[in-house]
Amino acid sequence: MNIAEIRKDFPILADERYIYFDNAATSQRPRQVLEAIESFYKETNANPLRGLYEWSIGATERYEAARHKVAELLHAKEDCEIVFTRNSTESLNLVAYSYGLSTLKEGDEIALTVMEHHSNILPWQMVAAKTGARLVYLEPDAEGYFGEQELAKITDRTKIVAMTMVSNVLGVTNPIKEVAKLAHQHGAVIVVDGAQSTPHKAVDVQDLDADFYVFSGHKMLGPMGIGVLYGKRDLLEEMPPFLTGGEMIETVTRESATYAQLPAKFEAGTVNGGDAVGLAAAIDYLQEIGFDAIEEQENKLAKLALDAMKDMEHITLYGASDPYRHSGIVTFNIEGCHPHDVSSVLDSEHICIRAGHHCAQPLLQYLGVNATARASLYFYNTEEEVERFIDALGKVRGWLGY
Ligand code: ALA
Repeated sequence: MNIAEIRKDFPILADERYIYFDNAATSQRPRQVLEAIESFYKETNANPLRGLYEWSIGATERYEAARHKVAELLHAKEDCEIVFTRNSTESLNLVAYSYGLSTLKEGDEIALTVMEHHSNILPWQMVAAKTGARLVYLEPDAEGYFGEQELAKITDRTKIVAMTMVSNVLGVTNPIKEVAKLAHQHGAVIVVDGAQSTPHKAVDVQDLDADFYVFSGHKMLGPMGIGVLYGKRDLLEEMPPFLTGGEMIETVTRESATYAQLPAKFEAGTVNGGDAVGLAAAIDYLQEIGFDAIEEQENKLAKLALDAMKDMEHITLYGASDPYRHSGIVTFNIEGCHPHDVSSVLDSEHICIRAGHHCAQPLLQYLGVNATARASLYFYNTEEEVERFIDALGKVRGWLGY
C-alpha cells in the first residue's frame, strides 16, 4: 500500500500539520467520494423512485446501483435485504421499534453486551420498557473475551441478541458467528452493530448468519447521513414499517394503507440519493485497496503506538494486550490528567483524538473510569504520525504542571 499516494486522494490530509486520529468517530473522504456526490447532483438530480423522465430514472438507477454495491459488500443474498437509513443509530432503532416491539412480550430477554455503544442500548431499553422484556448484559474479561459463563446468559428466554462486532472503545472483535449460532439454537435473532467493523474488515452476513447487520457510511469514507440496515428477507417481510409516509405504500385510503414491497417499505420519504452514491464510491475505494491491506496497515500502526505506550510511565491502556486485536483503536488515560485536558494539549499540536465516554458509559463504568482518551487510526495514517503522537503524549503531563 502506497500511503503517500493514497493520502493525495484526501484533500483535508494535504495540510500535514494535522494528525487525524479520530477515525472511529468519523473518517475523512477521498475526492472520488466527493466527486461522486457532486456528479449525482450535477448530472442526474431529480427525486429518485418517482419521476417518469430521464433525470429521475437516472437518479433511481444510481440509487439502486448503490444498494447493489452494498449488497455485494456484505454478501447479502438479495438487494432487497439492504435498507438505506441515516446511520447505524437509525438502523438499530428501526429493528428495535419494528421487530422488537412487534415480537417481544413480558418475560422475554434481550441479551446485549456491556461494551455496546449507546445506540445499541437505548433502543432496547425503550422497547423493553414498552413490552416488559428484560435486558441481560454479557460482560467481557480483561482481554475482551466472553467466557462460557457469560455466553450461558443466552437461554431459551432470549429473543434478541444485540452485539457489536467491534467495540468502539476497546477495538476488540467479537465472535459474531459463534454467538449467532448460539442465539439461533435458542430461537433468538442476532442484531449486529457493524459501525466499527465494516470500515476495516470484509464482512459476509451469510457466513456470520447475522439476522440484522447495521453500519454507517461516514466511518468508512462515505458521507454523513447515509447508513444501512441489512436484514434477512423473511424477517424484514414480516416486520411492520418504522417510519411511514411517501413512497413506502402500495395504496392509501382515508383510513388505511397497504405497504410497498421491500426495501421501499422501510424507506419513507425522499431518499438520500446523493449520499447513497457517495457511499458506493467509498465502497469502490475501500475494495480497490482491499480489506486485507487495510487491516495490515492498521495493525502495524496500532502495534507501533501500543508498544511505545505500554512502556511509558503514567499511561494506562485499555483493551486486549494483543495489538492486533484493537482494530486500530488505542484507548488510554494519563495519570492525573483529565482526558479532555489530554485532548486539548494534543490539539495544540494539531493532533485530533476523542476524549470522554465515547457514547459507551456502561462499558466505562465496567472499566471503573468516567472518561478516557482515544486515538483511532485508519489505513491512511502513517508511522510518522504515530511517532509525533507518542512524542506529544510524553509532553502532556509537563504541560499540565506535573
Ligand atoms: N460512535 C462514534 C465514536 O465512537 C461517534 O466516536
